[in-house]
Amino acid sequence: MKKWIFTMAAASLLVSGCQTGGDTVKETNQHEKNHQVRESSASKVEGFSFNQVKEAAGKKVITNPENVLVLVNKEYNLPEGYAPNDLVRPAVRFSFGNEKIEKSLMRKEAAAALEKMFAAAAKDGIYLYAVSGYRSYNRQLAVFKNEMANSGKAKAQQAVATPGQSEHQTGLAMDISGKSVQFLLTESFENTKEGQWLAKHAHEYGFILRYPKGKENITGYQYEPWHFRYVGVKAANIIYKNGWTLEEFYQNYEKM
Ligand code: DAL
Ligand code: ZN
Repeated sequence: MKKWIFTMAAASLLVSGCQTGGDTVKETNQHEKNHQVRESSASKVEGFSFNQVKEAAGKKVITNPENVLVLVNKEYNLPEGYAPNDLVRPAVRFSFGNEKIEKSLMRKEAAAALEKMFAAAAKDGIYLYAVSGYRSYNRQLAVFKNEMANSGKAKAQQAVATPGQSEHQTGLAMDISGKSVQFLLTESFENTKEGQWLAKHAHEYGFILRYPKGKENITGYQYEPWHFRYVGVKAANIIYKNGWTLEEFYQNYEKM
């Protein structure tokens, strides 16, 4: 498995360096490589793992889909039969009540982080509701067909991933809403106290707002202020502080 180790100093240098643009990123990366050799005893952060990919039937298929940093999008597909083997139901409020149904599930690590995040929000008087987590390949197919029937193909492709290309199949994503918008998944969630709390704090718990406004051409999807993706606290902090998408995180880190 490809893993990269770099120093804590590197992470913070990179974070601040990247805010001013791509050239700074490259310079800082090079600086850090030198720095790493000279100061090998400095405190380390755990390395990140990136997509491993094979070509199958003209598609790029991810061969390490269990990676917490997995990049699933219109370019990189999950294997058709992939289902995580550690799905659990987080102990949080759900918009649909207490049923233990497929969409209530998340992978264990993501579920624990979601519980922490919802508890922290509640302490601030913000009551979050989980709406939709894990979706199997077949369930995603049904969701996509339904959206196509309602909105037509072009619009459906901006809103719903085709099967194999949804983060919901990883068990690392959760759609979140609140009472302010009747528990709906709607763009106006961004103006609610629940949506604003999430936008400000999700990274502290390892989640990123995966489809930001203004980055539609990078993610391939419309703005979704409700879709949160678990990537772990270290990556989430870097992504948040740089204002990146997961695609941009890969572009800046994968080749380091
Ligand atoms: N709405 C997101 C893109 C999905 O269907 O996975
Ligand atoms: Zn979603």
